[in-house]
Amino acid sequence: MSRQEPANLPAGDPNPAPASPPKRQGRVTAADIAARKGGDPVVCLTAYDAPMAAILDHHCDLLLVGDSVGMVVHGLPSTVGVTVDMMIMHGKAVMRTARSALVVVDLPFGSYEASPQQAFETASRVLQETGAQAVKLESGVHAAAAVAFLVQRGVPVMGHVGLRPQAVHLSGFKAKGRTEEERSAIIAEAVATAEAGAFAVVVEGVAEELAREITDRIAPPTIGIGASPHCDGQILVTEDMLGLFEWTPKFVKRYADLRADIDRAVAAYADDVRARRFPGAAQLYRFDAAKQAG
Ligand code: KIV
Repeated sequence: MSRQEPANLPAGDPNPAPASPPKRQGRVTAADIAARKGGDPVVCLTAYDAPMAAILDHHCDLLLVGDSVGMVVHGLPSTVGVTVDMMIMHGKAVMRTARSALVVVDLPFGSYEASPQQAFETASRVLQETGAQAVKLESGVHAAAAVAFLVQRGVPVMGHVGLRPQAVHLSGFKAKGRTEEERSAIIAEAVATAEAGAFAVVVEGVAEELAREITDRIAPPTIGIGASPHCDGQILVTEDMLGLFEWTPKFVKRYADLRADIDRAVAAYADDVRARRFPGAAQLYRFDAAKQAG
């Protein structure tokens, strides 16, 4: 998605300062997000820990404690190995510093698919132990009963259709919806998720035309990731957009090059230690003669 220059900047400013985020009263709710359909784009990012959540919070409407934490932080090959305990640990960390964004925690693989009751047991545990306000699950026709069961019992649910990473062993990490068969299956997933009462639906890795069609057809806002600008909001994995990895999917726009920055910083530290330049005078504690005398 390309960024638009704010209208009041001098024409041709090559490096416009980003607009500061609007001030908010209180925390964004699932109902606030639902009401953004067709309105101002919903700004979302993933967060897995307290310091990052503190930085992202006031820029974002929604922070997702995604099960992508398994790959991004724990080095797993997919999200399939992520557990409820891992999600709760990261959810608690994010909730310690996120003050204004809606915090949504992913239900990991194997924690909700068996029955609506299983989904409720996991979701209620996640909300009670983390203090987050909503859960997300990879949804579709197969999970519509679970979404409805949760919503009827007071759990705000965000759906997730299109490329579903938890189904990697069946369908891989490839973009979806490029054949007629896949297109109609994904529309059915999105419609079932919306009708079951989801307050928003993540649409991942689908063709532009399909993203537009889903956004037009369902009532809740669509949150795109690799799903074109024709969505009501966007989400990225924060570490991807900050340039922490050598490889990122085609749909990621890099807003920083943290991998190179960290590499340079660590090389400088290592040089300093080896040359005994660190610690220097500014980093020393000294014997305090005045305190000693008193
Ligand atoms: O787990 C995750 O981070 C996600 C998003 C990237 C949508 O599901």
